[in-house]
Amino acid sequence: MNNHKKTVLITGCSQGLGLELATVFSANCWNVIAGVRNVNSVDSRLQLANIRLLSLDVQKSEDISNISQELASLPIDIIINNAGIFKEDNLEIVSTEDMLEMYCTNAIAPLLITQKLINNIILGSNKTIVVISGRMGSFDSYSGTGFYGYRASKAAANMLTKIMAHDLSDKNVKVIAIHPGWIKTKMGGKNAKICPNKSANSIFKLINNTHEIETGVFYTFEGQKLKW
Ligand SMILES: NC(=O)c1ccc[n+]([C@@H]2O[C@H](COP(=O)([O-])OP(=O)(O)OC[C@H]3O[C@@H](n4cnc5c(N)ncnc54)[C@H](OP(=O)(O)O)[C@@H]3O)[C@@H](O)[C@H]2O)c1
Repeated sequence: MNNHKKTVLITGCSQGLGLELATVFSANCWNVIAGVRNVNSVDSRLQLANIRLLSLDVQKSEDISNISQELASLPIDIIINNAGIFKEDNLEIVSTEDMLEMYCTNAIAPLLITQKLINNIILGSNKTIVVISGRMGSFDSYSGTGFYGYRASKAAANMLTKIMAHDLSDKNVKVIAIHPGWIKTKMGGKNAKICPNKSANSIFKLINNTHEIETGVFYTFEGQKLKW
C-alpha cells in the first residue's frame, strides 16, 4: 500500500462484481482494501501489493466493530458497499429468516460500515460512499412480482442512502446508490446481459470523477439517474 495513492474499500470481493471492482481500482493504481469472508482462500487477482485483504463478514457485528480499530486514522477516499445476497422467494415461501438475512447484508451493513468508518472517509479526498443497490429496489424504475425479500432489502438500502446523503452533506460526504446492471455473476446467472468487467469499469469511471456526481442520487452503472 502506498500512502500517496488514493484508497478504496470494497466489501464482498471474493467473486463477482466485487472482485472485478477490486481488480479495476488496483489496475488504475489505487490502494484497495478488499473485504472478504475468508482471507485464507482468495482469488489470485487479489494477491497484489496494492491490495490489502480485510476479514469482513458484513453479517457479523463483531467484524464490523473491528474495522474501525483495524483501519484507525487511515484516510479512505471511497467505500463501495458491494457485498450482497439474493434469496429467491414468492408469496408462498417468503420467510422472516430469509428477509432478515437479506436486510442485514444488503441494507443494514452499509449503514453500520458508514457509522464505523465515517472518520476515515472525512480524512480522504473523494469523500464518497457508494451503495451497490439495484433497480429491483426501486419503486418507480422496476415492476414485477415476487422477490419480496431482495426487493424490500434493496429499497431499504436506497432509503438509507438518501438519509445518509442528507445527514452527511454538511461534512461534504457524498452518498449515492448504483444499479450495476444485470451482470453475469453467481447472483446474476448466465443469462445476464453484461460482464462484470464492463460494469466495474463503468462504475470506476463514474465514481472516479467525484466532482461530477451528485449526492443522494441513484445512478445506473453508466451514470444515468434512476428514479428511486
Ligand atoms: N448480478 C446482478 O445482476 C446484480 C444486479 C443488481 C444488483 N446487484 C448487486 O451487486 C452486488 C454484487 O453482486 P454479484 O452479482 O457480484 O453477486 P455474487 O456473485 O453473488 O457475489 C456476492 C459477493 O458478496 C459477498 N457476500 C455475501 N454475503 C456476504 C457477507 N455476509 N459478508 C461479506 N461478503 C458477503 C460474497 O462473498 P462469498 O463469496 O463469501 O459468498 C461475494 O463476494 C450485490 O449487492 C448485488 O445485490 C447484482
